Amino acid sequence: MSSPEEPRHPVSLEPAGLRFDAPASVPLLKAAQAAGIRLPSSCRNGTCRACMCRLLSGTIEYTIEWPGLLAEEKREGWILPCVARATSALVIASSEASVQTQAGKR
Ligand code: FES
Repeated sequence: MSSPEEPRHPVSLEPAGLRFDAPASVPLLKAAQAAGIRLPSSCRNGTCRACMCRLLSGTIEYTIEWPGLLAEEKREGWILPCVARATSALVIASSEASVQTQAGKR
């Protein structure tokens, strides 16, 4: 997991306007979850594409060598946040991002 000295990058989720800080070593999906934000997901290992969303600005790196995206999709800005880590401040378009309710947590 992340250490207190580790760099953290601010992430904005549009159009909901939700924000969280993503530690450099933590996948975006997990960092969002830790901040109480729910993003769509299923496999969490970069294959099912349930979490696929669009990077509007900023840079990421992947925790795996072959995330399940076509080269063309990558060029268009699509990312898989379950296996992507922030390497700068990010703005992401995810129409399904929502605040986690207490009832939704398990
Ligand atoms: S949750 Fe399956 S690719 Fe991200």
